[in-house]
Amino acid sequence: MGNVTLNSALISPPVTLADVPLSRPVKLGVLASGSGSNYGAIAKAITENQLKAEIPILIYNNPKAKVLERAATFGTKTQLINHREFASREACDQAILEVLRSHGVEWVIMAGWMRIVTEVLLTGYENRILNIHPSLLPSFKGIRAVEQALAAGVKVTGCSVHFASPEVDSGDIIMQAVVPILADDTPETLHARIQVQEHRIFPAAIALAVSQYS
Ligand code: GRF
Repeated sequence: MGNVTLNSALISPPVTLADVPLSRPVKLGVLASGSGSNYGAIAKAITENQLKAEIPILIYNNPKAKVLERAATFGTKTQLINHREFASREACDQAILEVLRSHGVEWVIMAGWMRIVTEVLLTGYENRILNIHPSLLPSFKGIRAVEQALAAGVKVTGCSVHFASPEVDSGDIIMQAVVPILADDTPETLHARIQVQEHRIFPAAIALAVSQYS
């Protein structure tokens, strides 16, 4: 590859936060299971007045999730809803729905939420739930999407922000970014570059979706 640097990604649609200013702060409820770097990117965009939004509640399902530390940094209120304590996915989603509603949440943001959402949440927030996935959907749905792309030998992959739907990683796509795969990529190096693009497109895709569908 020589000195070729492939650090800029194609984003489609080519929309930035400045292109879709929101008229009033939209209330986002964030669901996160792990590191929460996407939540961090969204919270940063809000803090820097690029995304007109509020996060009245962040729900997490793993007691030790790193997202908790990030939430403390931004002063976001958090609530643990541990799916292990519920008899069914539906019962867990009902508890989530009630917490979201009690905080006046308008749009639900799945930011690394490693749970399959049920009809309970999907109907409770119909066409108001966004997810981010580390591939160019519809390729490489489900878990280990980065590993799937490497195994398939494709030369580009990326990330997608899409509406949640009953079938995993299958709802309408809002925004995508392309990330080239380099010859010496490992799952870790590739995922790190995909995440850089996730952090660019997620706040913009939220603004785009809210401005178009609210
Ligand atoms: C992201 O790569 C996202 O695409 C996938 O889970 C990961 C979450 O990362 N759904 P983070 O917790 O936001 O850092």
